Amino acid sequence: MSETQTVAATPQANGLAAGPREQLAVEGGTPVRTQPWPGWPVVDEEDVQAVSDAVRSGVWGGGEQALAFAQRFADLHGVRHGIACNSGTTALQIALSSLGVGPGDEVIVPAYTFVATATSVLLIGATPVFADIEPNTYNLDPASVERAITSRTRAIVPVHFGGAIADMEGFRALGEKYSIPILEDAAHAHGAVCNGQSPGAWGVAACFSFQSSKNLTCGEGGLILTNDDAVARQCRSRVNIGRVEGGAWYEHHLPGGNYRLGTMQAALLLSQLRRFPEQAHRRDQNGRYLDARLGTIEGIQPLRSDARQTLHSRHLYIFRYDSDAFGLPRQRFLELLQAEGVPASTGYPVGLHQQPLYSGRGLRGQLPGHPMPHLLAHNYSADACPVTEHICASEAVWLTQNALLAEAHDMDDIVRAVSKIRATCNRDKQEQA
Ligand SMILES: Cc1ncc(COP(=O)(O)O)c(C=O)c1O
Repeated sequence: MSETQTVAATPQANGLAAGPREQLAVEGGTPVRTQPWPGWPVVDEEDVQAVSDAVRSGVWGGGEQALAFAQRFADLHGVRHGIACNSGTTALQIALSSLGVGPGDEVIVPAYTFVATATSVLLIGATPVFADIEPNTYNLDPASVERAITSRTRAIVPVHFGGAIADMEGFRALGEKYSIPILEDAAHAHGAVCNGQSPGAWGVAACFSFQSSKNLTCGEGGLILTNDDAVARQCRSRVNIGRVEGGAWYEHHLPGGNYRLGTMQAALLLSQLRRFPEQAHRRDQNGRYLDARLGTIEGIQPLRSDARQTLHSRHLYIFRYDSDAFGLPRQRFLELLQAEGVPASTGYPVGLHQQPLYSGRGLRGQLPGHPMPHLLAHNYSADACPVTEHICASEAVWLTQNALLAEAHDMDDIVRAVSKIRATCNRDKQEQA
């Protein structure tokens, strides 16, 4: 897919114009920002009233509100079916099972994602296999996926990482070439629009999370979107202990669990939806502003996204940090940035293939017997993911979505803080020369 371009650096934007060296906050200087960033979640009296009404209704399960929310969310994404459930992890498990994935099968997932993308595969008895990501987007790389395909591959799960739509044209082509379904992990991509379409339109289904940190939340919750009627029927049944529409209460067709979304959570999601479009727009506007401004600073490269993505969900705002250009290790840069009042972090410390669960270190090895032969079925130390490893070790810098809910002028504090650190690094280098 095509990519946006970043703007060339200028001395002014880099903070390299002549003048005295500014003292950094860690050296006792004045921090760029002392005001707090917007909190998350955002709650008002209508939210409280919605939950309170649900409590007073006395109907705490049974699903009317969950059905209403699922349909609203599906309509928002222009997808036919929405099936609500109790987490993003269960959404992935249910969707994978509904595609027929099970024991003996392999599912290709990115090494750079939240662990649930892979754990959901393990929990249905299949084997996750890791592929690498693209260095400019941090999204799953179709070329790496193609190298990982075997005769046992039964699904590919690209994640729209941080809210940037993955290369779905590339994955659809791979899916068609090898007859493998594509399942979208859209846990970061609520409301995203690319080329006039949203998650659920590209893959056979898309899975969302409404866990506390997510761009739309009720504490814990999940949802599957699909345009496939047969997959939707399977998912509805699996969420609801194998029942089927029109079937009797004690009539069970599939090995489903009770994965239903509760009434109070659904009421809260319906209420939270009121402000979602404005929040989504604000995050993206602020993200675009940061892309343009931070992209002019030497040593900082905002992640690229498809130029056709008209709404980027910005669950995370991520830039690539070049420690050689700054002459500072990333950890030190982050300490300086945090002291200037910008709450940035490194994100994942290692790729998923390096987590103890997959590398075999730690608690996993202490379990009596081995409960997961499908975990042993794959040699994770052979999964080559050099881009992921580099990013985790020294490159990625994350800001969470709530920072992007601030006013447009607050974004300048982020730009000023990075520019200030960049300028002091340059001055220090010049003085040492
Ligand atoms: C990319 C990704 N996939 C899946 C999940 C799982 O969602 P949940 O925490 O609701 O189970 C998360 C989130 O936490 C996530 O970030």
